[in-house]
Amino acid sequence: MIGAGQLARMSVAPAQALGVGLRILAVSPDESAAQVARDVWLGRHDDLDAVLAAAEGVDVVTFDHEHVPPPILQALLDRGIAVRPGPAALAHAQDKATLRAALADIDVPQPQWAVVSDIADVTAFAERAGWPVVLKMSRGGYDGRGVWVLDSASAVADLMTTVDLAAPAVWLAEEFVRFDQELSAQVARSPHGQAVAYPVVRTVQKDGICVEVIAPAPGLTAGESATAQELALRIAGAFDVTGMLAVELFHTDDGRILVNELAMRPHNSGHWSIDGAMTSQFENHLRAVLDLPLGDPRPVAPHVVMVNVLGGEHPDLYAAFKHIMARDPGVRVHLYGKQVRPGRKVGHVTVLGRDLDQLLERARHAAGYLTGTITE
Ligand SMILES: Nc1ncnc2c1ncn2[C@@H]1O[C@H](COP(=O)(O)OP(=O)(O)OP(=O)(O)O)[C@@H](O)[C@H]1O
Ligand SMILES: [Mg+2]
Repeated sequence: MIGAGQLARMSVAPAQALGVGLRILAVSPDESAAQVARDVWLGRHDDLDAVLAAAEGVDVVTFDHEHVPPPILQALLDRGIAVRPGPAALAHAQDKATLRAALADIDVPQPQWAVVSDIADVTAFAERAGWPVVLKMSRGGYDGRGVWVLDSASAVADLMTTVDLAAPAVWLAEEFVRFDQELSAQVARSPHGQAVAYPVVRTVQKDGICVEVIAPAPGLTAGESATAQELALRIAGAFDVTGMLAVELFHTDDGRILVNELAMRPHNSGHWSIDGAMTSQFENHLRAVLDLPLGDPRPVAPHVVMVNVLGGEHPDLYAAFKHIMARDPGVRVHLYGKQVRPGRKVGHVTVLGRDLDQLLERARHAAGYLTGTITE
């Protein structure tokens, strides 16, 4: 697995359980996954020699993030090394403008969009789609960095003149979608075409960062949920995705489901599945890229709630351990071994059961206490 963040870290336990060797390419031995994996190679994901050296002798290369440059992926393929997902599929997760054009080709519902290069382009788009306009860097963004909601031509001008867009990234303008909730539809798909769909979940973003996930999404009808799952399966097939695919969706109050973006790896919206599903997204990602039969994606409780632990003011997360564990033995705590920085994802907690309101209270309390925003 190229990349050693928390997604790689959470892949270590299922690899161990399956008896599968998991080698990690990490930039530094301090990274989240490098702390816990046995077979760690040091090197950068954009260093051809480092990637080729780490990939020597493995059955398949997969990823913890989307940032490996296409020429390096191609070099792996040229040496007969399986890359899953492959570069053609991955392009749709690497570049939001590429994705928009490809989704249009297969008639997937999405926000109005346009590739724009100057202020005049954006104002012309706004005349069609209305203000505010969402402006995105087509690549390189994450956790809301690279996404701006702008309500006037002067705000567009300010942004476009101050932000340095590094080629091959382009500016993507999108209609501002007035959603009543954001959803994520996750599927696992293997090279021989087997696929399984997880329950569609609600994701809650604050300042562009995912803070909370509820599985299954409350208030979604069975029909809407099936529509979202079918959409994700169709996209996975059309783009030949292998491994886990997360389709981030907007649900509008008039009942439309529009695609925001894709991730082709385990995703924050699926962390609930470690404790809350028959087979976690991390295990199914490994099974899928190894072309093994996939595990059962069904939930093990009526409701599962996951709340992210974001870095706060207190660097020592463990100071809160005793309190949250004593208060609620049912809370599952996952910390990523990352240094606390304000707003950084450093862990998550999961609870599962029957009473959704109570689960939300318990999970928010535990996460808030770890973060330091709740003190009693
Ligand atoms: N067209 C839109 N209309 C309304 N809100 C939007 C739109 N696009 C994005 N957003 C909001 O901004 C958030 C981040 O956008 P997006 O998912 O495109 O960026 P990202 O930084 O790549 O996110 P991620 O952390 O998932 O990689 C979305 O989850 C959503 O809350
Ligand atoms: Mg997103």
